Amino acid sequence: MTLPRRRFDTLIIGAGGAGLNAALQLAGSGLRVAVVSKVFPTRSHTVAAQGGVNAALANVLPDTWHWHMFDTVKGSDYLGDQDAIEFMCREAIPTVYDLEHMGVPFSRLDSGKIYQRAFGGQSQDFGGPQAARTCAAADRTGHAILHALYQQNIRARTHFFDEYFAIDLLRDDEGAVLGALVLEIESGEPLLIEAKTTLIATGGCGQVFRTTSNARINTGDGMAMALRAGIPLQDMEFFQFHPTGIAGKGKLITEGVRGEGGYLINGEGERFMERYAPNARDLAGRDVVARAIVTEIMEGRGCGINKDYVLLRVDHLGEELIASRLPGIRESARIFAGIDPVLEPIPVFPTAHYSMGGIPTDRFGRVVAPAGEGAEEVVPGLYAAGECACASVHGANRLGGNSLLDILVFGRAAGKDIVEYIKENPHHRPMSEASLDQALSRLLYWAQTEKKPSGKGKAKPAKVTSVRELREEFRKVMEDHAGVFRTHKTLSEGVKLLKSIRKQLAGIHLKDHSKVFNVARIEALELENMIDVGMAIATSALGRKESRGAHSRPDFAARDDRQWMKHSLYFKEKDRLEYKPVRSKPMTVKSFPPMERTY
Ligand code: FUM
Repeated sequence: MTLPRRRFDTLIIGAGGAGLNAALQLAGSGLRVAVVSKVFPTRSHTVAAQGGVNAALANVLPDTWHWHMFDTVKGSDYLGDQDAIEFMCREAIPTVYDLEHMGVPFSRLDSGKIYQRAFGGQSQDFGGPQAARTCAAADRTGHAILHALYQQNIRARTHFFDEYFAIDLLRDDEGAVLGALVLEIESGEPLLIEAKTTLIATGGCGQVFRTTSNARINTGDGMAMALRAGIPLQDMEFFQFHPTGIAGKGKLITEGVRGEGGYLINGEGERFMERYAPNARDLAGRDVVARAIVTEIMEGRGCGINKDYVLLRVDHLGEELIASRLPGIRESARIFAGIDPVLEPIPVFPTAHYSMGGIPTDRFGRVVAPAGEGAEEVVPGLYAAGECACASVHGANRLGGNSLLDILVFGRAAGKDIVEYIKENPHHRPMSEASLDQALSRLLYWAQTEKKPSGKGKAKPAKVTSVRELREEFRKVMEDHAGVFRTHKTLSEGVKLLKSIRKQLAGIHLKDHSKVFNVARIEALELENMIDVGMAIATSALGRKESRGAHSRPDFAARDDRQWMKHSLYFKEKDRLEYKPVRSKPMTVKSFPPMERTY
């Protein structure tokens, strides 16, 4: 097969906030940048971010980046790397002003300054009164940011490959990354993109759970590509369940609702968060609030006929405030719950929202991998940023408003570092034909139809016959076995079921694809990715025998700093785990030692 080839200085896979902010740095430096996205860029999941982006601007209440840093370290349950956290919190301030200058239409105070709302886990003065740090464009902040970044990239002449699906990274014998094999979704034609550097910015993997706030596109593609390229995933046991998804649907109701004064009640009409977090109440860390909701329900204090949700009250806020600050959630509640929150409370339940773990990077977005005897080395030519990456700023639990910040800060940092890398490595390396053959074989595998596919190990006869059915079975296994609370029993059963699902997928073949849309092939490739990522989550969760942040193990209920102040690394090969220490030394300030985490 003659394969069409294109060459760029840099390839960026993913067109959300991280990819587009990186692309802007690069295009601004005169480099040739290709952005590959499986959807039209402004449909990337950044568009769905609601509540806002954190930066200590002090527009509403006193604030400093150092307080922001303290809250982030505490929110991470002390597992975040403090050098990266310091970097992110310092960079937050110029990052938000940059967005303002790009034309992001932030909500405004009467003074004309950017409006900032209170979000969970924010404090003044290192754990004191509530802060107001989240810069918002009503409750559609991600939408406003993504559109501004896309427009700026169009102006900078970034080259977009819209609706192309990345199959696999290409690496040479020295481990350097040379670009990727991608597939044009419409035509089904493969394309080889050769690049001096590749940035993975493919976002999260929330679709691995049945009930999620994530879009259908969040299938962990970049994470799985890294795994297949021999790179481990870090801290995958830490998956955030956002406390307020619309019950039964998962659709996000922003934490900004509670920041504006909304609160949760149980079936007895009680403001139960007062018992779990006496000071911060509804604005405690997300892991704390999600666990509280599930506990209320498990103990029989849920709402509704089946007592399987709690209620989020906003009716006391008034129609005017809801219209100006929270218009999107009114619309969502009407569409997905059939209620008007101006008049009635919203039924909510935790929804799978965010992966704290991902492809391990340093604070310049460079992918780092173990190099034996506790050492690490940078993977030449490979970068990652955003939710698919783990710069380790969120540790065991992310604070609301820090995810838009993460994508912007580390997208930009990666862009800047790539510029320097290319100055020192100005030439394309020769393509590795072996690596290309391997990537092509993944593609060809799902092009086979009538014949049993070969080369994937032992295929198990499928109990289900379609990718879609198997996908739903997989997502239910993840929800039932690796949810808000997980134990040795649920996780080990889950891992066993996932292994069986992996084998079943190998036994499914697509119908004659001249008769089905090419989408069937994409769905199969996505499911393969999701299973790899699901396996990383369940295996890492089984390995960590303590409770910390979002990883809650009733069979190991306490946090264990003596044994577990370390990051997990999951390798696809043999489903193996390794560990590495937390970097608790910040860049310029004193580190925050682990303390009891109360709100
Ligand atoms: O609740 C929210 O608006 C979500 C924000 C976030 O995940 O950072």
